[in-house]
Amino acid sequence: PVLVVDFGAQYAQLIARRVREAKVYSEIVPHTFSVEQMLAKNPAAIILSGGPSSVYADGAPFVDPALFDAGVPVFGICYGFQAMAKALGGTVAQTGLSEYGGTSVDVCEAGALLHGSPEQQTTWMSHGDAVHSAPEGFRVLATSAGSPVAAFENTERRLYGVQWHPEVKHSPLGQQALENFLYNGAGLAPDWTPSNLIADQVELIRAQVGDARVICGLSGGVDSSVAAALVQKAIGDQLTCVFVDHGLLREGEATQVEEDFVAATGVQLKVVDARQRFLDALAGVSDPETKRKIIGREFIRVFEIAAREVVEEAGESGAEVKFLVQGTLYPDVVESGGGEGAANIKSHHNVGGLPDDLAFSLIEPLRALFKDEVRAVGLELGVPEVIVWRQPFPGPGLGIRIVGEVTAERLDILRAADLIAREELTKAGLDREIWQCPVVLLGDVRSVGVQGDGRTYGHPIVLRPVSSEDAMTADWTRLPYDVLATISTRITNEVKDVNRVVLDVTSKPPGTIEWE
Ligand code: XMP
Repeated sequence: PVLVVDFGAQYAQLIARRVREAKVYSEIVPHTFSVEQMLAKNPAAIILSGGPSSVYADGAPFVDPALFDAGVPVFGICYGFQAMAKALGGTVAQTGLSEYGGTSVDVCEAGALLHGSPEQQTTWMSHGDAVHSAPEGFRVLATSAGSPVAAFENTERRLYGVQWHPEVKHSPLGQQALENFLYNGAGLAPDWTPSNLIADQVELIRAQVGDARVICGLSGGVDSSVAAALVQKAIGDQLTCVFVDHGLLREGEATQVEEDFVAATGVQLKVVDARQRFLDALAGVSDPETKRKIIGREFIRVFEIAAREVVEEAGESGAEVKFLVQGTLYPDVVESGGGEGAANIKSHHNVGGLPDDLAFSLIEPLRALFKDEVRAVGLELGVPEVIVWRQPFPGPGLGIRIVGEVTAERLDILRAADLIAREELTKAGLDREIWQCPVVLLGDVRSVGVQGDGRTYGHPIVLRPVSSEDAMTADWTRLPYDVLATISTRITNEVKDVNRVVLDVTSKPPGTIEWE
């Protein structure tokens, strides 16, 4: 892999994504990794990310100069560039003049790194310190008003660096510099593609599983569907997918899994109708966290029963299901601390948390992928587009979109309103622009309205359309007024007990995407 060393800013993930966009596989490692730990991963190249520190600050992340003698091509970005300059004997000074935002740089010599660049390019910078002189043996490629040395390279040692952030879109030629480094500097080929990835995973899964029986909790969402399709491609009927209908699903969701997914993949599916069980367990409960815990707990119970039944139905009583497929993605792995090792179940946020003592080994074929990459793999595997392009939907489902107690009647109201919102957003062609649009029923709130000649006293429905890259942060989507008007009119006319539709105009933070 290409290792992206994370110096603690948000940029490492973005760099890893850009490297993958160049069809080269990348992984993020923490800056606390020693040179030995990095080399143990057999890196094809190493990229040092930007970070919030000054190289002179107390406790600034340290770069071991040995890294530059390992014979591995290295590309330093921003902080990584300065740390590299300092480690190799260049000078980094606190100029007091900081460059922030769009910054013009003069390219004095394109070299290998800036090959194809015009004499001036706009870059995005964010730094206080600057490199004043390059280490011996390095050629200076660019300068800017605040950075006497804004880019350098040493092609013999295959060491490169830029002061700006090539990974952000505000550096229009950033991807070109990154690709120059990967293809020319490090001599890598753009061969990390969905089909190669599928072929690799199929082999790995077969080796991991042997002839054991495997189950997969299928939610109908993108991640679990693509994971299931991949494992099914590898081991066919050794896999059984378990779909738990907890009654907190949206209109048509169970059908979509049963019909579309099974038809496209031919996967063995076990559907468990647990609707009444969940309703009973949730009766009288309004507190969001308590609801989440109940849903998580009930899910596990149902799932464990289903796993036993799968074995019995296969005529293998007494045998055990050894493996569980999970649609864990790379951001989950990175967020939970790097994901080294890890074998048994951790509490994942997939379905509100599976317990530590669940005795399955995990198969997580999407562990290295970002969401858009999962979608590409899904398309390649022939997973239906309606599933591949589905917006995220939380495991606890509509249970956390009813503020107040969850009842069968309230679920019906919310399902009807949600279906209308989804229909109209789809009709307006907005599905891919919106990350997701939770529709929330304020079950404990009523307001006065008028319909025909009569007074109504109904519940409000909240629309929560958001735009996001990864759900960590989000902004409310500026939907066209006419689309909002149509949704509002239809919901208030067609859904019993709803007499008001309101729009949530809060970003995340401070709001979360879901209301509970
Ligand atoms: P929040 O509400 O935390 O949501 O801003 C961020 C993203 O995560 C989804 N979400 C969940 N997904 N199980 C899931 O599988 C959960 O318990 C859960 N809670 C929130 C939410 O829909 C959004 O995409």
